[in-house]
Amino acid sequence: MGRLVQASNTTLLVTVTGEVPGRGAITAGAVYKPIRGERPLWDFPEATLAHREVAAHAVSEVTGWQIVPPTVFRADGPLGPGMLQLWVATRDDVDILALLQSGDPRLRRIALFDAVVNNADRKGGHLLVRADGLIQGVDHGVTFNVDPKLRTVLWGWRGTLIAPRELQVLAALRPKLAVGGPLSASLAEHLDAAEIDQARARLDELLASRKFPHPHPDWPAVPWPWY
Ligand SMILES: Nc1ncnc2c1ncn2[C@@H]1O[C@H](COP(=O)(O)OP(=O)(O)O)[C@@H](O)[C@H]1O
Ligand SMILES: [Mg+2]
Repeated sequence: MGRLVQASNTTLLVTVTGEVPGRGAITAGAVYKPIRGERPLWDFPEATLAHREVAAHAVSEVTGWQIVPPTVFRADGPLGPGMLQLWVATRDDVDILALLQSGDPRLRRIALFDAVVNNADRKGGHLLVRADGLIQGVDHGVTFNVDPKLRTVLWGWRGTLIAPRELQVLAALRPKLAVGGPLSASLAEHLDAAEIDQARARLDELLASRKFPHPHPDWPAVPWPWY
């Protein structure tokens, strides 16, 4: 349907149609990011960003937190292989700066998710508030780097205790991310082994410290622009 012009890569708004058993043909909006349209980055291997978005979705699914909208890898997109993500209808009356300043507890799980996937670009515009109150996140192309690159606007809980319910979710993630576990197997289709090892190490660190992480001293802590 068109290109999202504020986006830094080739990010296209598309319509997908498909047959759903019992419901017939359905149509939905989606974001399509062909690998061909990825701008090379100095600190990420080339032509891997779409894969990282699919990997981030796989982690989100296992947590049950529904942070990342349904995201798949499509080999046969009109502009070649890329990622496809369901378009999320958002409220247009939400002031994201006010939301961030309020320390809304719905953002805590996103901060933890980002710590696990090593999200290098959690800006305000990558948070979507749905009408039902769920807050989702998008644009996970720069995740799973082997080096610490957490760059986010969600530092409000740094150094504070992870709540028991949140810890339970993270603890349940651990066996799935174990070597030979189901999540590791699906991540291996999109990430290399060292990247999966580092995700496991970051999760172990969170489980051991039981605290939200602090910014890394050698890396910019906040994305620019922050929105
Ligand atoms: N699945 C989605 N549903 C709704 N809006 C989205 C979705 N994905 C992206 N957007 C919107 O489009 C903007 C650009 O997409 P983004 O994934 O950030 O692209 P880029 O990688 O080029 O920065 C986002 O900031 C967000 O406002
Ligand atoms: Mg973006």
